[in-house]
Amino acid sequence: MTTRQRQPQFLRAMGIDVWVRRKHRVRDKASETSVASRASVAPEFSAAASAAVAQMDWETLRATVATCVRCSLHKTRTQTVFGVGALTADWLLVGEAPGVDEDRKGEPFVGRAGQLLNNMLFAMGLKREDVYIANILKCWPPKNRDPRPEEVISCEPYLKRQIQLIQPKIILALGRVAAHNLLKVDMPVGRMRGIRYEYLGFGIPVVVTYHPAYLLRSPREKLKAWQDLQFAKSVLESVA
Ligand code: URA
Repeated sequence: MTTRQRQPQFLRAMGIDVWVRRKHRVRDKASETSVASRASVAPEFSAAASAAVAQMDWETLRATVATCVRCSLHKTRTQTVFGVGALTADWLLVGEAPGVDEDRKGEPFVGRAGQLLNNMLFAMGLKREDVYIANILKCWPPKNRDPRPEEVISCEPYLKRQIQLIQPKIILALGRVAAHNLLKVDMPVGRMRGIRYEYLGFGIPVVVTYHPAYLLRSPREKLKAWQDLQFAKSVLESVA
């Protein structure tokens, strides 16, 4: 069965009722590729500490994150939310930060947004176990407020090391916070869609789509998310 034949069922999995034939216009513009420029290392995370994280294996990294006190979020968290999935996944999905459900369970995207994310994966013919899922922050920001710059900078070496260890073929940035912090650009998500970015000069393509929590609030945008997933798939196929 071809992907095209399977689309209606997959669209339903994402809660999209309408069958739309129009093919997504792929904007694979090399000229728009952005290699993120890196901000200097914050005092909260010294160069030496970052260098140490950059050498860690999975076990050490996991243990280091679990006991991290680099920013004040350690005072309010129940536990850290490291990430979940296949350690050699082609797909890395990056969200914003754990919510209250994730803080309790210690796993990313387990609440309502997580259920939609699972459906989005299913729509692509993937299961949660096939991909790796992580967040910009490993700790829950109280009241689900936006991550603060110092928290992002403190946490960044951990995600960067996860990316180095996984070596995904593609990174899907879920929402504004993930997109802005992975790519160091400040544009509305709507303007970042359909463009192939690149992570930190690692040569790993990054595609931006809406955050599942946003899609729950704005279900009419699900079709655009579906188009983004198709675009991401085409980018992955072009590098695979
Ligand atoms: N939203 C996110 O960005 N990440 C999670 O893990 C859960 C909700």
